[in-house]
Amino acid sequence: MDKANVTIDFFDKTNEKYIKNAAELLANSFPQAYQDSARAEMDEILGEERIAVMAVFDDMLVGFTGAIPQYGVTGWELHPLIVKPDFRGQGIGARLVEKLEEAVAARGGVVMYLGTDDEFGQTSLAGTDLFDDLYGKIQMIKNINRHPYEFYLKIGYKIVGVIPDANGFGKPDILMAKRLVRK
Ligand SMILES: CC(C)(COP(=O)(O)OP(=O)(O)OC[C@H]1O[C@@H](n2cnc3c(N)ncnc32)[C@H](O)[C@@H]1OP(=O)(O)O)[C@@H](O)C(=O)NCCC(=O)NCCS
Repeated sequence: MDKANVTIDFFDKTNEKYIKNAAELLANSFPQAYQDSARAEMDEILGEERIAVMAVFDDMLVGFTGAIPQYGVTGWELHPLIVKPDFRGQGIGARLVEKLEEAVAARGGVVMYLGTDDEFGQTSLAGTDLFDDLYGKIQMIKNINRHPYEFYLKIGYKIVGVIPDANGFGKPDILMAKRLVRK
């Protein structure tokens, strides 16, 4: 696979095959959330007011991302982001988010934010009482098993908070954000 042949573009909402590819990626990547609802979730992701971006290789969708306007047009939530497993580690995730950020900024977006769950003990924030010394623990965060927060750090996002126990005791949601335009 030559990564130069992976094209990044706005999601073609008329292409049933791409929508099906994307629903499969959702169900496979997050079975606990989308095993039975991936197709319905795709309808939300491709909704009128949202923005969605896809990566295509050889007429197959190999990744996608989306953004939801949550605070008028200024604050947008990045949701979801998935790259097909055998296409990871080649800059596709970073390219998808870059295109999404440009489109969000063009629509008046000032900040993009996201929540990235740690349900499976992938960071040092899992399995601990985050109501005790929360900020100290965020400062000392360690990536134990390829949690994606580090991907987001590399493309300019900062950890701006944590929701302790969001997914059950010791299973936090890590909140991250990036400023998209200068003041
Ligand atoms: C997270 C994900 C989208 C990254 O996509 P990708 O195409 O592999 O990412 P890129 O190749 O653009 O990576 C950019 C940089 O981040 C790093 N990176 C990517 N994933 C990482 C991870 N899980 N842990 C640590 N670093 C990571 C890469 O090594 C690369 O670093 P470099 O610039 O120093 O070479 C992909 O791994 C994925 O789909 N994961 C499953 C779904 C998921 O967790 N989505 C996020 C939910 S919030």
